[in-house]
Amino acid sequence: MRAALLKSIPGQLEIDEVVIGEPGPGEVLVRTSAAGLCHSDLHFMTGAYPYPTPTVLGHESAGVVEAVGAGVTYVQEGDHVISCLSVFCGKCEYCLSGRPNLCAKEGLTRTLTGAQRLSMPDGSPCHQFLHLSSFGEHMLVHENALVKIRKDMPLDRAALIGCSVTTGLGAVFRTAAVPATSTVAVIGCGGVGLNVVQGAAIAGASRVIAVDMNETKLELARQFGATDVVNASQADAVAAVHELSGGGVEFSFEAIGLKQTAEQAWAMLAAGGTATVVGMIPFGQSIELPGYDFLAEKKIQGSNMGSNRFRFDMPRYVDLYMDGKLKLDELVSARITLDEINDGFEAMKQGEIARSVIVF
Ligand code: APR
Ligand code: ZN
Ligand code: ZN
Repeated sequence: MRAALLKSIPGQLEIDEVVIGEPGPGEVLVRTSAAGLCHSDLHFMTGAYPYPTPTVLGHESAGVVEAVGAGVTYVQEGDHVISCLSVFCGKCEYCLSGRPNLCAKEGLTRTLTGAQRLSMPDGSPCHQFLHLSSFGEHMLVHENALVKIRKDMPLDRAALIGCSVTTGLGAVFRTAAVPATSTVAVIGCGGVGLNVVQGAAIAGASRVIAVDMNETKLELARQFGATDVVNASQADAVAAVHELSGGGVEFSFEAIGLKQTAEQAWAMLAAGGTATVVGMIPFGQSIELPGYDFLAEKKIQGSNMGSNRFRFDMPRYVDLYMDGKLKLDELVSARITLDEINDGFEAMKQGEIARSVIVF
């Protein structure tokens, strides 16, 4: 199959042939219909996070089941599915205690001695990215990396639910559990941050202050439910949020992945407030917080893929969209081909677009 490979880090993606295996026990072969470009992929291309190469990137996708391996009962050929990197074993303490997004993920990949799911045409290894590798014409995944969805849901928009939508909405609904009438600030209004904004609006926040450096993004944030916007390239974001909220917000969210903005999320809080860091801070980097703020009972927490239970959450997000209560059409800035993928990541770096989606 054709796929977008990361061969060296830092590096661009190369479209090349990759060999994909037959579904083994518990595995499913999916024909990829659409895959979104997420900033997390870019973090691995730039080396902010390490990964073995060569690898086929991509982790935000939807498709159609083509074949299932022995013992697979959850899906059958023809089913429409969304993939999720939060593949779960169902047996570890995290899964059993209701936090499957933190699953220890033992037994969910093939043993390293036998044939692998992906390989290069010369037989050398090709590493599967985050159990998925969505930037390929097919995906060979564990059945617990998939959720079935209704067939009237358009697959290009369903793909977005696979990462950005679930990460953003889940950070609000699950990780932070924002109550109605709360005051909220969101730093970063890309594919993920816009979903934090619309999650806060759906949750009934009284104020949703969106912060970005890009006017186009701030305009989108208003469409997604922001009550106020702050252009961080023109104003001090922390001071602006304090002023707009009358002394700080109850909930802040960082949706970029920078030390500086994670520290801003903390500084924007009112006493007793909670900061949720959704963005991936570069590997090995620390953030610094003024110790005296703990006297004000401020809290800070990470959010991994929106603390999802994706087989439960995603079909509901699909229903919200189909009922006109969730914005997905507006998230798709461009539909591109696999061959245009590097241009898509370049556009992401410029900060102009919400999401580019590869349609296969
Ligand atoms: N202050 C405010 N906004 C900023 C700043 C800054 N210093 N730097 C960048 N931005 C804005 C950009 O203008 C852009 O709109 O942050 C947004 C980031 O959006 P994307 O690049 O589309 O990133 P996204 O895919 O939404 O991911 C955001 O979440 O899951 C993680 O790994 C992901 O760390 C990444 C984060
Ligand atoms: Zn992602
Ligand atoms: Zn588990």
